[in-house]
Amino acid sequence: MIAPEPPEPAPGATPAGAKTLWHGRFASAPADELLAYTVSLPFDRLLYRDDIVGSRAHVRGLARAGILTDAERDAVLAALDTTQAELDDESFVFAPSDEDIHTAVERRVTELAGSAGAKLHTGRSRNDQIATDLRLFTKSALLDIARRVLRLQRVLLTRAEEAGDEYLPGYTHLQRAQPVLLAHHLMAHGWALSRDVDRLLDARRRGDVSPLGAGALAGSSLPLDPDAVAADLGFAARFENSLDVTSDRDFVAEALFVLALLGVHLSRIGEEIVLWSTDEFGFIRLDDAYSTGSSMLPQKKNPDIAELARGKAGRLIGNLTGLLATLKGLPLAYNRDLQEDKEPLFDTVEQITLALSAVEGMFATLAFKHDRMRAAADSPYAAATDLAELLVAQGTPFREAHAIVGALVRRALDGEAPLYELVEAEPRLGANGSALLAPGVSVTRRTTPGGAGPGPVAIQLGRFRALLSADAARLA
Ligand code: ARG
Repeated sequence: MIAPEPPEPAPGATPAGAKTLWHGRFASAPADELLAYTVSLPFDRLLYRDDIVGSRAHVRGLARAGILTDAERDAVLAALDTTQAELDDESFVFAPSDEDIHTAVERRVTELAGSAGAKLHTGRSRNDQIATDLRLFTKSALLDIARRVLRLQRVLLTRAEEAGDEYLPGYTHLQRAQPVLLAHHLMAHGWALSRDVDRLLDARRRGDVSPLGAGALAGSSLPLDPDAVAADLGFAARFENSLDVTSDRDFVAEALFVLALLGVHLSRIGEEIVLWSTDEFGFIRLDDAYSTGSSMLPQKKNPDIAELARGKAGRLIGNLTGLLATLKGLPLAYNRDLQEDKEPLFDTVEQITLALSAVEGMFATLAFKHDRMRAAADSPYAAATDLAELLVAQGTPFREAHAIVGALVRRALDGEAPLYELVEAEPRLGANGSALLAPGVSVTRRTTPGGAGPGPVAIQLGRFRALLSADAARLA
């Protein structure tokens, strides 16, 4: 038997026979190449929950405006529930004509609710719709990430508290400079992350604006109430200008910056873990569960999480700069270029989320090798500044004190005698001076507020603990 010829697609319909959203205006169907190039469904389906949340609020608004009867509203809301359930359990069947998630949801709602479903898009454009979806997504992503940052900060605080009075060399130029408490060092990362939490919440606040009701670019002739819809969606405000809000992706750029900077902080932590886990430093031992081996070299144990935290920061920076380049030449208002906002945002959110969990686990489980840290910090040269400050306390101008101690250091390095003996023999320093070179003494002398010694660090830990509680309340 000969198979029947497939029917010719209707004018304006896709090759598979389904109609485009704009079929009325078009005499012929879209080309396969056009569909292949312009579809966004493969990535924007991630927004389906936000899309449906936005549609629910829009439908309620249409009913309040008298555009939908209560029965129509309820039919559409029920169809939206069914559509959401199908997407949740992955039984949703996408059609070849589903160009994006908005098209897919509206098609399914219309299949389910008939003519009431066909009213769903009244007074709305995909331009205000996608802006709404993406703002809802970004708001919840930034909050979720801030909560994860807080968890990493708690781990840093716990490790700092456990570290007690243990110390290690502090570095400048990656050269040993002065001893610092390990707790002080860990908290340095903790404070950087607290600025990230602040920035995440700040970016979230600025993006907390509802675009629904802006239409394609200019608003509507229908009696819609964007304020009420904004309140229904939990936005802090509605847009002030329909042209602005349908084309504004500042909130995405800002999120990408804040997340890229957070990624840079994780990268710096990663770089340090890489260094500290080398035989040369030997300051930490990574837990087996958070390190990798080599396929060839049996003895190897590698800090891959730390390296990827460092490496992926480049990708996060790329996502930010790519979006800025997309935005820079766009005329008002919506342009299809804006579809390019989603992949960088989704990628950055996913990568940061993965990174935070991995770095948290790595930090929670690694072991500090305190003997190695102490040995590295107890070099008598690390106390050179303490010697100079002892002279200053006796009235010697600092520049002169610096030169006196510098000369002793040079003579010791030249092999004349150990620094300890040269200090003891120097009448202006003597036994008071050599006592400063004893192991563990120098770090106790960093007593100024915010400094690296036990006194100020105890205060710092208390302040950091209080900040974490305040942030936890802000994120609740
Ligand atoms: N996929 C589109 C985007 O992400 C949705 C908006 C489409 N609007 C339009 N006028 N074609 O931007």
